[in-house]
Amino acid sequence: MSKPKKLRSTEWFGKQDKDGYAHRSWMKNQGLPHHMFDGRPVIGICNTWSELTPCNGHLRELADRVKRGVYEMGGFPVEFPVTSLGETLMRPTAMLFRNLASMDVEESIRANPLDAVVLLVGCDKTTPALLMGAASCDLPTMVVSGGPMLNGRFRGERIGSGTHVWKFDAMVKSGELTKEEFMESESCMSRSVGHCMTMGTASTMACMVEALGMGMPGNAAIPAADSRRKVLAHMAGRRIVEMVSEDLVPSKVLTREAFENAIKAIGAIGGSTNAVVHLLAIAGRIGVEHTLDDWDSVGRDVPCLVNLMPSGEFLMEDFYYAGGLPVVLRKLGEAGLLHKDVLTVNGKSIWDNVSEARNEDAKVIFDTAKPFKEQGGLVVLRGNLAPNGAILKPSAACETLLQHTGKAVVFEDIEDYKVRIDSDDLDIDAKCIMVLKNCGPRGYPGMAEVGNMALPAKLLKEGVTDMIRISDARMSGTAYGTVVLHVAPEAAVGGPLALVQSGDQITLDVAARILRLEISDAEMADRKERWKPSHPQTTRGYVKLYQESVLQADEGADLDFLRGGSGAPVPRESH
Ligand code: FES
Repeated sequence: MSKPKKLRSTEWFGKQDKDGYAHRSWMKNQGLPHHMFDGRPVIGICNTWSELTPCNGHLRELADRVKRGVYEMGGFPVEFPVTSLGETLMRPTAMLFRNLASMDVEESIRANPLDAVVLLVGCDKTTPALLMGAASCDLPTMVVSGGPMLNGRFRGERIGSGTHVWKFDAMVKSGELTKEEFMESESCMSRSVGHCMTMGTASTMACMVEALGMGMPGNAAIPAADSRRKVLAHMAGRRIVEMVSEDLVPSKVLTREAFENAIKAIGAIGGSTNAVVHLLAIAGRIGVEHTLDDWDSVGRDVPCLVNLMPSGEFLMEDFYYAGGLPVVLRKLGEAGLLHKDVLTVNGKSIWDNVSEARNEDAKVIFDTAKPFKEQGGLVVLRGNLAPNGAILKPSAACETLLQHTGKAVVFEDIEDYKVRIDSDDLDIDAKCIMVLKNCGPRGYPGMAEVGNMALPAKLLKEGVTDMIRISDARMSGTAYGTVVLHVAPEAAVGGPLALVQSGDQITLDVAARILRLEISDAEMADRKERWKPSHPQTTRGYVKLYQESVLQADEGADLDFLRGGSGAPVPRESH
């Protein structure tokens, strides 16, 4: 590895003039001794800790462990806060602010005297937001995930974050569970620090980090409450100091091959559909060529090896005891489904990291020869209803619905859905296809996780458990069902989804990758001619900027002017 010519931080702390005086003197008010400014690498610890982001509520403690490691290796750690994105509380949706947080991260890194950064992440959007921002700066970067919560447990059964909220809610509606029992399960679900412990978006993001080579081996699965999570943070602190001298920057790790490994790994774990928009956005920042179609062409033949909720029965704690992601990556490597030579942040190849990983529980991690589910990857659908693509997760879908033509029942937006879904007058049966409009990046705004619309109560009572649902929205990684998501272009910009009317026939053919509205081209053109935007643009603040600049889902829903990066040049002096 080449050595950096000069540490970036010396432009601040190394000067023997009034600027250097100011930079050091004010830092010394925190009790820092003079030798901290002797030219040692300054390591930023970019922290998404917040009491409003409960999944990241323990990250200050992990930051302390990173600091120990940095000090041991002769570095100078400095912790700083960035916008935190809590999935459960933020309205209208945390995704609206992913790009805002990424700007905060990028500019915080660029503006300050940092030589490298450790990104402390956990809840869903915090991982891609920080990775996007750091990728645009391209200083040596290591991701440390906060880790999943311990298994939820209710009446002797495992219960999973999110997954059992949907499940229990449907059971209340169908009369299988009382409201009191439902409320009782609430405390049983979230019983330790950490993020959702299903293979939802947070766990998928933590696996993505490890598969991309941006985190230490084992990053994804160690429970947040396990002492070994602290050890991982400590070791990350040691390693990031070495990365400075090796000039090991993200652009050396985040290659096209690394992205292909991530797509395959996400297929093999039955990962969240949200990974699509996040990986596309990260690739856009680092300048790697990656398109929506890669999810099908690269990920198509990857079997799902991991028996975790929402597709399976176990949880992240079980996954950790079984050996975690290194076992999955080893199995992919043995099946010829992994680029083995790609570099990772610990300085070794991904294969060096995982080739000895041992599977400790074959009920949790399956073999490629006899997988948990044959098809783990996501499917990219196209057709006159989604010219720029839509996605579906077959491992979470009902097989009998994967080829189906049905009558559309259209909801113009999420409010319309809420008002009418449980009405006895709603003309709907199990063969119908539910269509939800105006929930894409611009329409909602923020592309909320409402694509897995709960089924009508009257059908739930009849025992219906799944129906085809189509929207321009996203879906929680903890959700399941035959759900077509991310339809592009979205309805709010006049995509064909906007033109669907109740009573139209729609065909979903997953094997042929088709999503088709069964009307003539002439009829489609006529409806398009008469279409008018129904959702006004916001007139001020970040949301205005977002609505004016957000890209469609097939391009990662980043802001158009944030693609690429500017590196981390030393800005002009301010004094
Ligand atoms: Fe934070 Fe699920 S709500 S990870």
